[in-house]
Amino acid sequence: MDLNLKGRVAFVTGGGQGVGRRICLDLAAEGVAVAVNDIFEERARGVVREIEAVGGRAFAAVADITKQAEVDAAVAATQEALGPVDILVNNAGVLVERREKGGAAPLFLDTSADGWKRIVDLNVFAMMYCCKAVLPGMKERRHGKIVNIMSEAGRTGEARLAVYSGAKAAMLGFAKAIAREHGGDCINVNVIALGAVSHEGIREGALSPGATPENNERLGKMLNAYPISRGLRRLARPEDISGMVCLLASDRAAYITGQSIGISGGFVMQ
Ligand SMILES: NC(=O)c1ccc[n+]([C@@H]2O[C@H](COP(=O)([O-])OP(=O)(O)OC[C@H]3O[C@@H](n4cnc5c(N)ncnc54)[C@H](O)[C@@H]3O)[C@@H](O)[C@H]2O)c1
Repeated sequence: MDLNLKGRVAFVTGGGQGVGRRICLDLAAEGVAVAVNDIFEERARGVVREIEAVGGRAFAAVADITKQAEVDAAVAATQEALGPVDILVNNAGVLVERREKGGAAPLFLDTSADGWKRIVDLNVFAMMYCCKAVLPGMKERRHGKIVNIMSEAGRTGEARLAVYSGAKAAMLGFAKAIAREHGGDCINVNVIALGAVSHEGIREGALSPGATPENNERLGKMLNAYPISRGLRRLARPEDISGMVCLLASDRAAYITGQSIGISGGFVMQ
C-alpha cells in the first residue's frame, strides 16, 4: 500500500536512537524528508547519515526540546532546510540519565520535586512547545499529523513510574483536546502507547537487546506479563512501532483522530 507520503516533512523528537531512530528511518523510506531531533548532535547526525546513505533527505535538528527557544529555532531551521513541517512525532520521553542508569526506578516517596519537574518538562512541556511551533503552519496549510508516543504506564499506571505515568497520561488528554480544537483544520492527532521496547540504545538491563530470560531475571518476569511474548518470547522492537507511526502520519488514516493505540503485544486491552 502506498502511503502517499512522498515530499512530506517530519520533525521527530529524540530521533537519535531507539524507537525514534526507527521512526525516522521508516518515514524516510516512505519518501518523507526527516528532521532528526536529538539533544546529542552526534546521534542526530548519525541517523541523518543513515538516511542520506540510502538516498533520503534528512536534517539534524539538534535541540534540547525542554527549552522552548531551542524548539522554535530547530523548527525554523527545519523549515529552511527541508520545508514546512507536515508531521510531528513527539517521541523523546526518557531522561538521558535514566536511560544510562537503567535498572528499577525509585518509588515516588524516594523522589523529589526536581526530578518530577524534569520528567514533566520532557514529556509534557516539550510536547507542548513542539505543537505550538508547528500547529500554526499546519493550520494555514490545512494539513497536519501529530503522533505522540506515550506508554501503557500512562493508561494503567505503573509502580515506580508514578510521575512518568502521570506525564504520559497528560500526553493523551492533551492530544485529544488538540484533536478537537484542530479537527476542522484537517489536523489529526493520535497517540501510541508502548509496552517494553528493546533497542540498540539500551546497553544494560532487562530491555537491552542482549538480555535473555536466562541471563536476566527481570526480563523473565516482564516476558510473563506480555501476552505476545508467551508465543514469540520477546519484547517489542522499534520496527513494531514505526509502521503505525507511518500510517498515522499518512492520509490513509485521515479519519482517525484523538485515539490511543496500544502497541504492547496485548499487554493492555481497551
Ligand atoms: N523503551 C521502552 O521500553 C519504552 C516503553 C514505553 C514507552 N516508551 C516511550 O517511547 C519513547 C522512545 O523511547 P526510547 O526507549 O526509544 O527512548 P531513548 O531514551 O532510548 O531515546 C530517545 C532519544 O531522546 C533523546 N533525548 C532525551 N532528552 C532529550 C531532550 N531534552 N531533547 C531532545 N532529545 C532528547 C535521547 O538523547 C535519545 O537519543 C519515549 O517517549 C518513551 O517514554 C519507551
